[in-house]
Amino acid sequence: MSAEPKVFVTRRIPQAGLDVLAGKCQVDLWTGDLPPERETLLARAAGMDGLLCLLTERIDAEVMDAAGPGLKVISTLAVGVDHIDLAAATARRIPVGNTPGVLTGATADFTFALLLAAARRVVAGDAYVRAGKWQTWGAQVLLGPEVHGATLGIIGFGRIGQAVAQRAQGFGMRVIYYDPGAAAHPAHPLGVAVDLATLLAEADFITLHTPLTAQTRGLINAAAFEQMKSSAVLINTARGAVVETQALYAALKERRIFAAALDVTDPEPLPANHPLLELDNLIIAPHIASAGVGTRNRMAEIAARNLLAGLSGERLPHCVNPQVYAGLD
Ligand code: GLV
Repeated sequence: MSAEPKVFVTRRIPQAGLDVLAGKCQVDLWTGDLPPERETLLARAAGMDGLLCLLTERIDAEVMDAAGPGLKVISTLAVGVDHIDLAAATARRIPVGNTPGVLTGATADFTFALLLAAARRVVAGDAYVRAGKWQTWGAQVLLGPEVHGATLGIIGFGRIGQAVAQRAQGFGMRVIYYDPGAAAHPAHPLGVAVDLATLLAEADFITLHTPLTAQTRGLINAAAFEQMKSSAVLINTARGAVVETQALYAALKERRIFAAALDVTDPEPLPANHPLLELDNLIIAPHIASAGVGTRNRMAEIAARNLLAGLSGERLPHCVNPQVYAGLD
């Protein structure tokens, strides 16, 4: 690198990531608690060699063009890249980096936290105690479906889906899975591949681990809820829009399924007056599945390394559009 390249870091990230950047580039850091407004994002991107963003920023052709022809790399502190227009980046030969692998364990752990909390009524129990309703031990109080021995249906059987399957072994669960992104399902020691209809009909717990793509958007719709058991629990730690919000609301309100637990929603964040928040058979967390201290530090380090690699014209350690390197080997 000749003159220090300039980068816009669109939000505060863990210091571990900023340490990687220190002395290697000029960092313009957005320190607001909320994401920069669109106009601000466009203005601050102008003239940048690199962008390091969070999943809250929509990075599309307009942002890339606002940055200008010097933009060499886009790095996100996330594994999911649905907030970035990959086609637009690839057309401009801009590599896009993400942070796979390091958040697998934390996300799988949190999936189980939600699964257990929804099934065994942990949040409802806490509210019950705080509301002064705990008068005595009751044989029928706050009952929920058993976790051990139940059938877990995993939709999306990549790194995170498989890590969830591994945890399910400890609970003696039967694991079935369906991967919308896979052309074929070779036998896997952690579960049995089934088609979507079988999974929806047989699973006691259904957990989503697919990226958000044109194929998975709205995958869990009214028809899918119709196929689920009335005792089913849906867990979503993937992306909100994989589930049709209106259909989810209806399924929970009419008790067509037992419960749902979400770490992601559509829209996100969920407005404080959203109808979903009226439901007592729903748990919602504010998109924190990867929020382990060490995990977030590692994500920040990887995002910073992807950024530096792109600035110096090297291959990103984790690149989601390697087509940009075609013909360069
Ligand atoms: C979180 O949702 C991520 O994609 O990293």
